[in-house]
Amino acid sequence: MENSRFLRACRREAVDCTPVWMMRQAGRYLPEYRALRKKYSFWEMCKQPELAVEVTLQPLRRMEIDAAILFSDILVPLEGMGAGFEFIEGRGPVLDHPIRTAADIDKLSIIDAREVVPFVMEAIRMLRRELDGKVPLIGFSGAPFTLASYLVEGGGSRQYQHVKTLMYAEPELYHQLMVKITEVVISYLSAQIEAGAQVIQLFDSWVGCLNRADYYEYVYPYSRKIFQTLSTFKVPMIHFANQASTLLDMVRDAGGDIIGVDWRIDLDTAWKIIGDQQGIQGNLDPIILFAPISEIRNRVARILRQADGRPGHIFNLGHGILPTTPIDHAKAMIDAVHEFSAR
Ligand code: CP3
Repeated sequence: MENSRFLRACRREAVDCTPVWMMRQAGRYLPEYRALRKKYSFWEMCKQPELAVEVTLQPLRRMEIDAAILFSDILVPLEGMGAGFEFIEGRGPVLDHPIRTAADIDKLSIIDAREVVPFVMEAIRMLRRELDGKVPLIGFSGAPFTLASYLVEGGGSRQYQHVKTLMYAEPELYHQLMVKITEVVISYLSAQIEAGAQVIQLFDSWVGCLNRADYYEYVYPYSRKIFQTLSTFKVPMIHFANQASTLLDMVRDAGGDIIGVDWRIDLDTAWKIIGDQQGIQGNLDPIILFAPISEIRNRVARILRQADGRPGHIFNLGHGILPTTPIDHAKAMIDAVHEFSAR
């Protein structure tokens, strides 16, 4: 297993071909996922280890994907902190009561993930048995800023008005919230690694709404603390920041063995910024999967040319796969990565 092409690429060692997986690979573009979702709610699927295991394995039965990512959601540990969510069809999770005041923040508990979300660790243990060394298992967490945004906005957001207002108008409160979330993320990821996650990814999906100075003051110290604390485990860590081309050098410095980039920046430009001490993950625009397969193959080839055979490239989409994506197109992408990068 230590010799899988995915883990080798994480360590920037030579590989037989470039490993590839897809963010959101366990999900709605698969009819077998939608069939299960007719019977169970989204939270039920996150909380029942047998269901989470099944959904994690679904994409691997159809495609030659080089890693499994645990089926769960970044909001699962937040619920454990005392923030209740309702899952609204077509909109996603919405908070019963957004966290905006000192009293709201006081009420959030710092949890021990092993006790509060044991079903996640159980799913990981079961998955390691099921995967039986075939491909490595990725665990994940939302990054503190993305989680804080969800809590303060109360759901998805366009302008991030409430979380940025908290940051600018009441910075002490904002920092209190980030300190709590950071503790929880460390507990949550440590527990996943101890349960058997072989790689972890931190998703900072919403950090692109910040300028450089604000990233440095309000986000960087927390993400950095997570990577520094978890580095004692010696498992590879992926740091994905979405819409963050302008922040990339600081994202790199915050930590992660592999830096995930979206599709808005050319992979070779991004890699120049990241330097040669860390690897890179990315970065096909998920909407290219709606183009004809010949065009998908062209675009895969272009990214691989930009990577130029350097060790430490993990191929991925630049963000999550969309629910209406044709499965044969996703499969064509995966196959093209392996075909064109075979050494
Ligand atoms: O990558 C994977 O396959 C692992 C599973 C995973 C899910 N969500 C499953 C999911 C991961 C890593 C996430 C991360 C996540 N969740 C993020 C950040 C990651 C990113 O995309 O940048 C965010 C912001 C969330 C919160 C969330 N969960 C939203 C906003 C939504 C609704 C929007 C949407 O895409 O439908 C969800 C629901 C969700 N999370 C689904 C899945 C498969 C769809 C649930 C369903 O309707 O069946």
